[in-house]
Amino acid sequence: MVALRKPQPILDDNAFAADVLRGLSMTPKRIPAKYFYDAEGSVLFEQITALPEYYPTRCELAILRAHGKDIAGVIPEGAALVEFGTGSTKKVRLLLKHAPKLACYVPVDISAEMLEAEAAALRRDKPQLPVLPVVADFCRSFPLPKETQAAPVRVGFFPGSTIGNFEPHEAADFLRHTSNILGANAFLIIGVDLIKDTAVLNAAYNDKQGVTAKFNRNVLFRINRELGANFKPDCFEHHAFFNRERSRIEMHLASHKRQKVRVLGETVEFRAGETIHTENSYKYSVESLAALARGVGWMRAGVWTDKKNYFSVQAFRFVGVQAARMDLGE
Ligand code: AVI
Repeated sequence: MVALRKPQPILDDNAFAADVLRGLSMTPKRIPAKYFYDAEGSVLFEQITALPEYYPTRCELAILRAHGKDIAGVIPEGAALVEFGTGSTKKVRLLLKHAPKLACYVPVDISAEMLEAEAAALRRDKPQLPVLPVVADFCRSFPLPKETQAAPVRVGFFPGSTIGNFEPHEAADFLRHTSNILGANAFLIIGVDLIKDTAVLNAAYNDKQGVTAKFNRNVLFRINRELGANFKPDCFEHHAFFNRERSRIEMHLASHKRQKVRVLGETVEFRAGETIHTENSYKYSVESLAALARGVGWMRAGVWTDKKNYFSVQAFRFVGVQAARMDLGE
């Protein structure tokens, strides 16, 4: 499963090298999207979230502001709240202010530095709330602090539509994995981008200022720097489009011309127009996400959207695969 989202430093250089070499030897060529997020890529992603065309972050914050009280109403008293892939605590704070009786808040992220800084700031602002950060790749198994086991129930929070960057089978794996981590009677609150007009989707990934194009090409600079390759990033063009059949935005880098690139002692050849597939960002309907979740035992417990129905925050309760599949009517 890919671990995506915001600052995700890669812990293993060999894995980076192996993934890049493997991906560039495939047809069509590909580079896993998780490698976007080096320091420069993370800054570019933050810039993307503020672009006029990139609606997801603004819409999700608007939903959390308008419906935070109702959404937090899903969280049982005394629960432990576990956030998967916490970059900043900006979003969770909109829930925390309506959930005063938590056993603890557990932000989980692979980036120790950001995690500690955010945890320290939150402790200052909410001295009564035990904040117990865990440095881990949230896509792999990791132990939760013992305080969470003492709580009657654990609630997961996974904002940002990061689930959309997983292939659907990976999204199902992730949901299965969260139920294993959170245990019996868990709840999960997820931010999910919705299917909408193609023009709106295409604009969000083809901004006028070219920040998304820069973000896309940055992965080639990173490969040059960290793996000693000699990509000429300016010889690759940013392509992003909504593939309605597969319900996903695809991002590619298209070679302007026939060219050869050296990567870790290998020569990679490009035809003119040949692409490297760098990212998928799946868009769901409320129903399609519910169906995916139901298949792995999560029953829908609430849905909130913004005024334009661009984005959703959805809550689920873990009831087990049999029960979820039997209760089709929800
Ligand atoms: C992090 N993730 C949810 C973003 C998305 O919209 O899929 C990454 C991104 N790629 C291009 N723009 C933003």
